Amino acid sequence: MENLQTRRKFLLGTVATMGSVAVVGVAVPFISYLKPSAKAYVGAAPVEVDITGLEMGRMMRKLWKGRPIFIVHRSKEMLEQLSAHEDLLADSGSKNSTQPDKAEFKSKYRSLVPEFIVLLGVCTHLGCAPLYRPEIAPADLGTDWYGGFYCPCHGSKFDLSGRVYKGVPAQINLEIPEYSIQSNKLIIGKSA
Ligand code: FES
Repeated sequence: MENLQTRRKFLLGTVATMGSVAVVGVAVPFISYLKPSAKAYVGAAPVEVDITGLEMGRMMRKLWKGRPIFIVHRSKEMLEQLSAHEDLLADSGSKNSTQPDKAEFKSKYRSLVPEFIVLLGVCTHLGCAPLYRPEIAPADLGTDWYGGFYCPCHGSKFDLSGRVYKGVPAQINLEIPEYSIQSNKLIIGKSA
């Protein structure tokens, strides 16, 4: 009888150990995912981006500090739209945003040079990735849409300067990282 109990304890102990091993086996990938990789550390250095090939109206994505950066080459028409819908925005003067401390970023352009906007591609509601939607008044976004960034998670809307619309879950404009421009190069992570 004693033998039987000892054997049962041994078996239970073995099963429990195997369970822990299985859990550890499953957990390791997540833990290594959460731990900043060597690449992420490399990404903390300023990133140089050649913007010569970026066509007007198009957006390019880059990674900096492991986070997506959106760079859009805005056309003259896109820039003109920025003052046409300011009454729809929550913070058109960009007073409550995270951005470099320069007057240029508090203007409707929110950029060092109006043609290029540089934004952190992370929704200021709960961190989803907004979609670039440059078209005007598409059927799914309505007649009040003048082009910008739409977050599919909970419907937040941002204009082509990353300024948030009123009445959406996000309350703050898209963040602008430190950057500088030297001839045809944009240097993300380093101010001018
Ligand atoms: S995370 Fe973008 S709207 Fe919620």
